[in-house]
Amino acid sequence: MWGGRFSTQPAEIMQAINVSIGVDRRLWAQDLAGSRAHCRMLAAQGIIGQADADAILKGLDTIEGEITDGSFPFRDQYEDIHMNVEARLSELIGEPSGRLHTARSRNDQVATDFRLWVRGACDQTGERLKALQVALLDRAEQHAGDLMPGFTHLQTAQPVTLGHHFMAYVEMFGRDAGRFADARKRMNENPLGAAALAGSPFPIDRHATARDLGFDRPMGNSLDAVSDRDFALESLAAASITAGHLSRLAEEIVVWMTPMFGFASLPDDLTTGSSIMPQKRNPDAAELVRAKTGRIIGAFVALSTVMKGLPLAYSKDMQEDKPPVFEAFDALDLAVGAMTAMVRAIQPNTGRMAEAAGAGFSTATDLADWLVRELGLPFRRAHHVTGAAVKRAETLGVGLAQLPLADLQALEPGVTDGVYKVLSPEASCASRQSFGGTAPEQVRARVAEWRLRL
Ligand code: ARG
Repeated sequence: MWGGRFSTQPAEIMQAINVSIGVDRRLWAQDLAGSRAHCRMLAAQGIIGQADADAILKGLDTIEGEITDGSFPFRDQYEDIHMNVEARLSELIGEPSGRLHTARSRNDQVATDFRLWVRGACDQTGERLKALQVALLDRAEQHAGDLMPGFTHLQTAQPVTLGHHFMAYVEMFGRDAGRFADARKRMNENPLGAAALAGSPFPIDRHATARDLGFDRPMGNSLDAVSDRDFALESLAAASITAGHLSRLAEEIVVWMTPMFGFASLPDDLTTGSSIMPQKRNPDAAELVRAKTGRIIGAFVALSTVMKGLPLAYSKDMQEDKPPVFEAFDALDLAVGAMTAMVRAIQPNTGRMAEAAGAGFSTATDLADWLVRELGLPFRRAHHVTGAAVKRAETLGVGLAQLPLADLQALEPGVTDGVYKVLSPEASCASRQSFGGTAPEQVRARVAEWRLRL
């Protein structure tokens, strides 16, 4: 491609460090789309002749056919996807192929291809997250009235419903999907026509190629267009946050499935056994979802480190932008898919969860609130009395709901037996009717709202 200036072939090590076709071949569809848009625009502007444009477009169609049927020769000697396509085009149609690169550089070409790819990945991730949210909504509705312990510090805190717990993740994945949608909006500008770095002296129409490729507008600065990868970083940041959410839910599934918790199980087809311990059923999928977070956050760190300190405009460092992005989106796709399957299939042990919901003095706050509401105690005093009641119940080896009235009255004379109405985990959940609270009606209301939004 640059033989005119060079008298020798590249050294083997030069080729080895330079070649990227093994990675960027994944951009083939975007590369063809970009070339078609560029070619049509060149012809419409009279920069190349219509006959040449037709030959180029036909050649690109042939290349698409070869790539899809597996016969396309991806060759290391042509370095990357852009030059592989152009070299093949030249073999197929000869002389007119040389006109395609008029008013274009690989710098704006790769920026365009990569933007299109990341845009598609963001869209697809949004759809996949939506499917995960729907799976969570279904389970939340099903278990809107089923009790489980709510935790802080992984210590029993207050009873909640399992539906409420699932809905917490619907909210998280909703924000995640929003971050991908936001990133998409910001990235949806056309770099094509920035050429090498300074723009083009040809009368190109960057608005036309923008329309053709589904971009909202051309990017406003040619140096920026070929040299920033913030769109990739932003989507990796969104992916990292999503992966963090996925790993929290994965961790909960792992914990719920330990025999000591016994809160849930997964069907055989979503677990693995052990080659030595016959009794084992391992939540490998959940563990791997949890682990993929490492790769995804690693990708963000890798790319931001590549970009840091690069002078304007393009530097070959930027060829290292693709492996982390591809790896992160592959990992995220697997993680969201595996999590969706687990959410659909998880079998909660609702009896065991309900039993645990009432253990650990989980309604102590309800007792304190009752003392405030019914007897007018200041909350701090009520907290103290309740602490003493818990201590007494612990001594007697009973739960708060079983603590004799006399023992409660010994601590606070005004207590009546009306207090027992609030001491069950059912009553505790049912009373939390504040917007976004755990009461089954509230959970069902949020489910209904989310169904409309999705
Ligand atoms: N394969 C290159 C990349 O991914 C394409 C751009 C090459 N540009 C250049 N000036 N050498 O970044």
